[in-house]
Amino acid sequence: MQTRSLAPGVEVPVVGLGTWQVFDVRDEEEVTVGEAVVRALFEVGATLFDSSPMYGRAERVLGYALGGARREAFVATKIWASSVDEGLAQFEDQRDHFGYVDLEQVHNLVRWREHLDWMERERDAGRIGVLGATHYSPSAFGELATVMRSGRIQAVQIPYNPDEREVEREILPLAEELGLGVLVMRPLGAGGLGHGPGEDELDALGVETWAEAVLVWILSDPRVTAVIPATSKPAHATANARAAQHPGFDAEQRRHVERLWERRRDGSE
Ligand SMILES: NC(=O)c1ccc[n+]([C@@H]2O[C@H](COP(=O)([O-])OP(=O)(O)OC[C@H]3O[C@@H](n4cnc5c(N)ncnc54)[C@H](OP(=O)(O)O)[C@@H]3O)[C@@H](O)[C@H]2O)c1
Repeated sequence: MQTRSLAPGVEVPVVGLGTWQVFDVRDEEEVTVGEAVVRALFEVGATLFDSSPMYGRAERVLGYALGGARREAFVATKIWASSVDEGLAQFEDQRDHFGYVDLEQVHNLVRWREHLDWMERERDAGRIGVLGATHYSPSAFGELATVMRSGRIQAVQIPYNPDEREVEREILPLAEELGLGVLVMRPLGAGGLGHGPGEDELDALGVETWAEAVLVWILSDPRVTAVIPATSKPAHATANARAAQHPGFDAEQRRHVERLWERRRDGSE
């Protein structure tokens, strides 16, 4: 699997897995499916996983699914807490699930200054690898830029796909300028971009599915480190990982994907 640098000395696979909703499961059968998704990703080397205490049981289910292979995975998770005590309690739970957190992110920038104080101490003590911050909303990108400029984080997690391109204005250029890693959340538009134009439209792009076209479109931007599509289906996990083998779209192919998406979105298809 192709890798890119998330931070100095930290390489990650360019395709991983998001666990929002899909790993917030209790039923034994659904937990087994989660294990199968993780196995499918290990088979192709897509061993980057993203979670959060906000995702219900997802961290627990991910920790269980990783099992003895935990050390071969890169675990990104988050702190989503309105007080330092609550954040520390979340971190203790994460230590139970994962032992060590490779990338700890402040979720939605909640209390970021206070949380970064103790997260830096944990990083310096060797219990966290690198620090990051996430936000899903363009209305918070100004504050996200402030965190990026603070010099306290090494990576951001932001939404980016042919239908959500606000990050092209400030966040991606700033990440490049500062040398920060970029994880892309919601790469398939939370499912809305999972299906698109027919396969005949995709031949010229060298991809098999619309989802793969969207993931390659994202990864063709060199400022992006990795995408983390969520899925509850091992076959989709394997298909998504194919995007890592693609050499990348040139500017014209990228524009072609955008036009296909615009046609579909505007109802002419
Ligand atoms: N920090 C934040 O504020 C924040 C916010 C949102 C998300 N995130 C992170 O980013 C991750 C990804 O975002 P997301 O979960 O919102 O949405 P997403 O990854 O854009 O889309 C997930 C949806 O796409 C479908 N899908 C996946 N692969 C597919 C394929 N090959 N073909 C067709 N459909 C496919 C999945 O359904 P199936 O199960 O049927 O495959 C699922 O419903 C999250 O899980 C989370 O880890 C972070």
